[in-house]
Amino acid sequence: MTQLLTVTDISKAFGGNQVLKSVTFSLQKGEILGLLGPNGSGKSTLLNAISGFTRVDSGSVSVGEARIDHLPPHRIIQAGIARTFQLPAMPAKMTVMEVVMAAGTRHHGIWNGLLSLPSGRRAEREDSQKASQLLETLLLSKVRNLPAAALSGGQKKLLGIACALMGEPEILMLDEPMAGVHPQLRQELVATLQMLSQQGISLIIIEHDMHFIKSLCQRCIVLDRGHIVASCHPDDLSKNQDVLDAYLGRGSRMLKEAV
Ligand SMILES: Nc1ncnc2c1ncn2[C@@H]1O[C@H](COP(=O)(O)OP(=O)(O)OP(=O)(O)O)[C@@H](O)[C@H]1O
Ligand SMILES: [Mg+2]
Repeated sequence: MTQLLTVTDISKAFGGNQVLKSVTFSLQKGEILGLLGPNGSGKSTLLNAISGFTRVDSGSVSVGEARIDHLPPHRIIQAGIARTFQLPAMPAKMTVMEVVMAAGTRHHGIWNGLLSLPSGRRAEREDSQKASQLLETLLLSKVRNLPAAALSGGQKKLLGIACALMGEPEILMLDEPMAGVHPQLRQELVATLQMLSQQGISLIIIEHDMHFIKSLCQRCIVLDRGHIVASCHPDDLSKNQDVLDAYLGRGSRMLKEAV
């Protein structure tokens, strides 16, 4: 497999709180990587660092050979990395469809669009078809004309995924996509993410739901207080003493039920 994303030795502190400590890992093309760790271990901060929402203090992030750690978030999206948020906030006055359409980041040529030239209209029609297809895949078609802010927590998570996919990313990073999503829909989401992976999209998924992680991920990395303490197959997590220590406290020899 080809190495797609390379994170090398990144560190980040907020004041005196050292949240990421020399984090190094890579993501292969088509890989589904789980990002685990207890609450407050730095998972969302790591996603923020890769996506440009947080500037790292040191270290580097590269896509292929290109460094991206100095780029603003919109340039990182253009470089092929999209992400969702742990707590998605949606605009009060936009419908679900409008929110997805607004997430389309392809360049159509601004004058074509503003002057309603045929190529601009064609691109808009293509975006509209893509948005409708994504809403259908994520079971949001029925609510497409509702205000996005009126959706349930789980539906907002799914809408976040639809928005991220509008930019046709090479790498999709999801921050706790299952939280608040109905169990039946979870199965559909697993199938959708597997399909994306088969299409060549690489995924980084933060999730506490171990069933979900085991059904999707080929590899997991585990953060403990800003350090990567394990990188292994999901089936090996429960045997890894560093992982048990991270979740249960140092010196523990008991298996955490959820792991
Ligand atoms: N913008 C910020 N300013 C100050 N501290 C921050 C900021 N963002 C994160 N932190 C701190 O960094 C630490 C790690 O937070 P982070 O959100 O990355 O954890 P997490 O692993 O995603 O946890 P959870 O599983 O609860 O979502 C926490 O102590 C948090 O308070
Ligand atoms: Mg988090």
